[in-house]
Amino acid sequence: MPLLDIDDLRTYFHTRAGTVRAVDGISLHVAEGETLGIVGESGSGKSVAMLSVLGLIPQPPGRIEAGRAVYDGVDLLHAPQSRLRRIRGSRITMIFQDPMTSLNPYMTIGAQIIEPLRIHNGASRADARDQAVSALQRVGIQDAAERLRSFPHQFSGGMRQRVMIAMALVTRPRLLIADEPTTALDVTVQAQILDLIRELQGSLGMAVILITHDLGVVAGNCARVAVMYAGRIVESAATDALFATPRHPYTQALLAALPGARDRDAPLESIPGFPPDLIAPIVGCPFAPRCVHAVDACRETTPALEETAPGHATACIRAQRGEL
Ligand SMILES: Nc1ncnc2c1ncn2[C@@H]1O[C@H](COP(=O)(O)OP(=O)(O)OP(=O)(O)O)[C@@H](O)[C@H]1O
Ligand SMILES: [Mg+2]
Repeated sequence: MPLLDIDDLRTYFHTRAGTVRAVDGISLHVAEGETLGIVGESGSGKSVAMLSVLGLIPQPPGRIEAGRAVYDGVDLLHAPQSRLRRIRGSRITMIFQDPMTSLNPYMTIGAQIIEPLRIHNGASRADARDQAVSALQRVGIQDAAERLRSFPHQFSGGMRQRVMIAMALVTRPRLLIADEPTTALDVTVQAQILDLIRELQGSLGMAVILITHDLGVVAGNCARVAVMYAGRIVESAATDALFATPRHPYTQALLAALPGARDRDAPLESIPGFPPDLIAPIVGCPFAPRCVHAVDACRETTPALEETAPGHATACIRAQRGEL
C-alpha cells in the first residue's frame, strides 16, 4: 500500500483573467521509504500539486476541483484543517521553494524548531532544545546552541535553507516533500544538502518527494520519476528506465538539454518555444506545438498517461503506438 496515493488531482485558480488549470488531473504515489522525483519546467504545476496535498493553496483564488490524496487512510484533500495541521507539522513536512515562506522572521530559529517538537511530539522543553541543537548540527550549522537565539535574517541564504531542512526533519516525518531544495544554492552546498537528505532518509526511513527542474538531481537521488508538463504528468518510470529509454518527446528534450548529454562545445540545447497558456483550453497534446514528432492526430486528441512498458507510462500517442 502506498504511503501517499494521489488520484486525479485537479487544482485551478479562478482569476480575473480566467481559470488557470495549474494541475489538471495528476495521479502518483510514493511508497514508504521511497524517493520520487517530480521534474518539469517552471510553471508546470509541481509546487501547486504538492501544496494542494498539504492544504496550503490560497482558496480563493485556488480551488481543488477534483481528486483524492490518501495518506494513512485519510483523504487529505477533504480532511478538516485541524487534522491537516497535525499531519503537516509532523508526519509530512515540506521544505519550501522560498525559505522565507516557512520561517517566521520575528521568531528565533530555536523557538521555531522547538515549537513543533513540543506540540507534535510532546517533548519536554529541555528535550526539545537538545533535539533542536542536534538537528542544527546535523545540517552543518556551527555553534548550534548559540544559533538557536538567532533570527532568520541573521543567516545567509544557504544557511536558512539548512535551517529549514533541520525544521522539516526534526519531527522525524514519514514523508518529506522537498520543493527545489537546492536551486538557490551554489553547487557545493547543493551537493551537501542532497547528501544530507539522502543520509537522513536512510537513517529515518522516510519517503521523499523531490521537486526539481533538473533531471541531473533526479538521477542521483530518486528511484522513480514523474515528468510534469502543463499541469499533467506526461511520463513516469523508474529513473534508470527514464534515462535509458525516455519515450515522451518532452522527456527526450529535457535529457538532451542536460549538460553531460552534449559535446562540450555545443550550445546548451534548451527546448524551443514556450509552455502553453494554462488559461486557454488545451486541445490535443499540450506539448504538440513544441514537439518535433507531432503529427495531425497529436493536435486533435489529448493523450492519456498509459503504460508503454511495465512500470513505464507515457502520455504520447506516437510513443503508445510504438512509432518513436
Ligand atoms: N495564486 C495563484 N494564482 C494564479 N495562478 C497561480 C497561483 N499560484 C500558482 N499559479 C499558477 O499555477 C501554475 C503552476 O505553478 P507552480 O508554482 O506549481 O509551478 P512550478 O512547476 O512549481 O514552477 P517553478 O519551477 O517555477 O517553481 C503557474 O502557471 C502559476 O502561474
Ligand atoms: Mg515551484
